[in-house]
Amino acid sequence: MLTYLQVATYEELSRKGADIIREVITSKPQCVLGLATGSTPIGIYDNLISDYQAGKVDFSSVVTFNLDEYAGLDGENEQSYRYFMDHHLFNHVNINKEQNTNVPDGMAFDLMVEGICYDTLIESFGGIDLQLLGIGLDGHIGFNEPDDCFTKETHPVTLDESTIEANARFFERKEDVPTKAITMGMGSIMAAKQILLVANGEKKKAILEKALNGPITPRVPASILQLHPNVTVIYSEV
Ligand code: GLP
Repeated sequence: MLTYLQVATYEELSRKGADIIREVITSKPQCVLGLATGSTPIGIYDNLISDYQAGKVDFSSVVTFNLDEYAGLDGENEQSYRYFMDHHLFNHVNINKEQNTNVPDGMAFDLMVEGICYDTLIESFGGIDLQLLGIGLDGHIGFNEPDDCFTKETHPVTLDESTIEANARFFERKEDVPTKAITMGMGSIMAAKQILLVANGEKKKAILEKALNGPITPRVPASILQLHPNVTVIYSEV
């Protein structure tokens, strides 16, 4: 089932998204959260930090798995997704960062093997309770780019030119954007008990419409979410 919430502002999207995540943590303090990077979730993380500071949420038993990571960047690199998560959320709440937060290792010698280990670890925690997702302009979720087939496992990917261009805003020069990454596959995402997809801005409208109402195809990776039993989408145009 898909619940679609159109809200008026990014602030509302962020508040509503944080409330949904907070409810999951409150009802299951040892929950497993699948987390996302990109600019859209930042407001959600800001709200979760405020909620933590106000004593409304406790991350001490929460376990997290991030969707993806650039290949070749270590966690000290400011452009890495590990760095992003530490700075936008983990460093500001009472999560056990060393033991309970997981981001695929973009420095792993063999990213295929890293993928197998990552999926095994997710399974050992009983899978993901809530998976937070953004959506790329080409319909990617995590770094699952448009392709001829859906890939189930966490796996290495080559980024599309449009993704490199879209993500260049976070780097000094476009040439600095890594061309390869590792991403959770559709298996762990679709096995999540609940999915929360957030999208912000006019430019995401068309791809969101395609993903939610168009044909289910690996050419629009997010379209697979139509097959998931519990998806909430929050969209704000501004
Ligand atoms: C990156 C991430 C995705 C994210 C996407 C959209 O490509 N790998 O997980 O959904 O950016 O980002 P934004 O929210 O900045 O549009």
